[in-house]
Amino acid sequence: EDEAGLALRPPVVTILGHVDHGKTTMVDRLRSGNTAAGEAGGITQHIAAYQVMHNGKAVTFVDTPGHAAFGEMRARGANVTDLVILVVAADDGVMPQTEEAISHAKAAEVPMIVALNKIDLPGVDEQKTLQGLAQQNVLPAEWGGDVEVVRTSGETGQGLDELLETIQLTAELNEYKANPDRDAVGTCLEAFRNEGRGPVSWFIVQNGTLKVGDVVLCGSAYGKVRAMYDDRDNPIKKAGPSMPVKVSGLDEVPAAGAHFFVLKSLEDARELAEQRKFAGRSEELASMNQRPQTFDEIMAAARGEAETTDLPLILKADTPGSLQALKAELLNLDNPEVRVRLKHSGVGPVNESDVRLADTAAAVIIAFHTETDPRAEQLADQEGVEIRDYQIIYEVIDDIRSELEGLLK
Ligand code: GTP
Ligand code: NA
Ligand code: MG
Repeated sequence: EDEAGLALRPPVVTILGHVDHGKTTMVDRLRSGNTAAGEAGGITQHIAAYQVMHNGKAVTFVDTPGHAAFGEMRARGANVTDLVILVVAADDGVMPQTEEAISHAKAAEVPMIVALNKIDLPGVDEQKTLQGLAQQNVLPAEWGGDVEVVRTSGETGQGLDELLETIQLTAELNEYKANPDRDAVGTCLEAFRNEGRGPVSWFIVQNGTLKVGDVVLCGSAYGKVRAMYDDRDNPIKKAGPSMPVKVSGLDEVPAAGAHFFVLKSLEDARELAEQRKFAGRSEELASMNQRPQTFDEIMAAARGEAETTDLPLILKADTPGSLQALKAELLNLDNPEVRVRLKHSGVGPVNESDVRLADTAAAVIIAFHTETDPRAEQLADQEGVEIRDYQIIYEVIDDIRSELEGLLK
């Protein structure tokens, strides 16, 4: 742990790719389970998450029914993914959903590793598939590009160790961290009603540690965690950062993509949940791009007062995708006392109206992959408005994080 209480956490890896290219079979093989065989029609219907150990370290895999679920989660501000594995069947090549998956991974601005899958099949044309990827601007490292391609087979297990190694190497470079000692915050990946257990929510813990007995609010669902199960349905008492966990004890099935957090009292949780239910706003709240909040923030918000210091920002980005990804990341910088306050965000160059707004709101302008109009630049100089240019999402996040920490002092 470092001085801020942060410790390395396992990477969260989402598997994307065209239908039937072998995503679920691959995860099954990695964890030596047998889910694909149990799926109706061999088609993945919902998101599932599993943890796999490799060289003594955990990796969390999120298997999806495809690109749509991933895009939907991101649209709800639920940026749970650190890394994308793009599964492309070598016998089929780049297909429409492969292309969509590539766009989603790019918009999320997370590293991507290609699994050139079904490599066990005779007579597959690897080069043709690599060409298809290159046409989508996914340039394989072996061709001088920056995307690692690992040849795999979920059927025989070939290449899966190498895939795990490539994932862990990427994780080491990025140093994903969280604070295991704080109250848990995270996202509901999926939820359903179970005959014996009632509403069961499949959570992924993004920060902190979730414990049996914790009071949880998730969308408009609330309750005391009665029992928790790991991805093999073994009962567990606590779940740390990056861990997928099935939780029972909530009063209803929360919306997939809703953030959850821990509150101090069941009465407070009930009150907040009832407000949300009453207002019929659970859907809206889940899609508000709201970052997980702490108890104090929630209660302050409920009382209509703010107990936090704000860092006002204006965001401009080149595309809706990068803007959305940046927003989600910024709103995830959770900190009990200081928070990012978005005064305005939009797609396109920084213009004069952005600068005027920044001036009145005492905000800094973040220009991500985008230019500043010459007249806006002039005005900014004149008024002393700061415009910061960035090309890399992590640099924005790092800078804002240290700024928030600075505000705390
Ligand atoms: P959806 O979730 O429906 O999008 O499919 P998926 O990508 O999860 O594919 P799934 O794992 O269901 O596999 C689809 C079919 O391909 C199944 O019949 C698998 O047995 C087969 N398959 C998967 N991986 C491999 C592989 O590496 N080699 C071969 N030969 N067949 C594979
Ligand atoms: Na399938
Ligand atoms: Mg599947």
